[in-house]
Amino acid sequence: MISRLPGFHKLAPHERRRVFVELDLLDRNPNAGALDLAQADRMVENAIGTHELPLGVGVNLIVNGRDRFAPMAIEEPSVVAAAGHAAKLLRSGVGIEVTTSRPLMIGQIQLLDVPDMVQAAKNIAVFKSEILERANRCDAALVEAGGGAVDIQTRTLMPGPDEDGDVGPMLVVHLLVDVREAMGANAVNTMCETLAPELAQRSGGRALLRILSNLADRRTVRAKGKVPIKELPKGERTARAIVEACVFAERDPYRAATHNKGIMNGVDAVLVALGQDWRAVEAGAHAFAARQGRYTALSRWRIHDDQLVGKLELPMAVGVVGGAVREHPGVRENLRLSGSKTADDVAKLAAAVGLAQNLAALRALSTEGIQQGHMRLHARKRGM
Ligand code: MEV
Repeated sequence: MISRLPGFHKLAPHERRRVFVELDLLDRNPNAGALDLAQADRMVENAIGTHELPLGVGVNLIVNGRDRFAPMAIEEPSVVAAAGHAAKLLRSGVGIEVTTSRPLMIGQIQLLDVPDMVQAAKNIAVFKSEILERANRCDAALVEAGGGAVDIQTRTLMPGPDEDGDVGPMLVVHLLVDVREAMGANAVNTMCETLAPELAQRSGGRALLRILSNLADRRTVRAKGKVPIKELPKGERTARAIVEACVFAERDPYRAATHNKGIMNGVDAVLVALGQDWRAVEAGAHAFAARQGRYTALSRWRIHDDQLVGKLELPMAVGVVGGAVREHPGVRENLRLSGSKTADDVAKLAAAVGLAQNLAALRALSTEGIQQGHMRLHARKRGM
């Protein structure tokens, strides 16, 4: 199967669907992905209906040598087209190479009124294997699948100089959990809640919050793509302009916020289509962008020899078990269309689209400007 579909954008929506039905990637029944009211009612409280978004398909993607389609649920025009254009440019390199870390999520247990921080941290370290065993008794299925709690770390948080309250120092315990195919919130939160009384007792303090951290910096995805400079319109000049645009975002948080928003246009659209907790990934991405104490760009674009090379790294807490994946037929359909069987497949696709989206935005912004491109697409839609 190849994801390069020349003329695809010119087809009517039902003809586009037929392309995927013929590739055996979509059901013949156009309503097969619809969420009914009973399913919606099982998903959220006070359900009164369902709420739809346009679903487009990002084409031209090659991720780790494999052609893939990217289902994208988004209300904003131009995003899907832009992803496809940039994916075509990146395809003329070798496509996008993506690697993921081990799926390690962090759970936090906040301990207050600890009489001796150093002693408390020691007590917890000494009993680490017992504590991990207890955590793993919460989720036999996860351990069976090769995951589970793997480490415990402690951090001390002291009152800041500009705090005006009377909250003293706190000891924060990080529980590191390999969550395998899950997003991980349920498994991690259950473990944190189970461990809290024991940790309070071993520290001599009192446990307050017991919750997963969305700064999933131990569960990251890295995407890298190259475009031969000769493939870019106006070659060297465009490549240079893209680098200058990127450095602007690296230096300035005002620009970085917009630069990263463009990346997340692609990431979120894929995550929404694939039933993921995109708010968790958004929160993680922006916190990660500020991890050095200053908010900056999530991506880097540079010229190496005759190539424009882009790199993107961000936390990616996604899963293919539980939640919307279990309940929503459209999500299951989109997972099939996207060739995603594992959480790793989802993470790699989302990051690849994020990188492509960023390239498209920087190219448009640093050459013709974004409005002209938008306007051209709008004019096409209105048949002008
Ligand atoms: C618009 O949704 C996204 C952009 O603003 C991203 C960027 O400026 O890099 C075009």
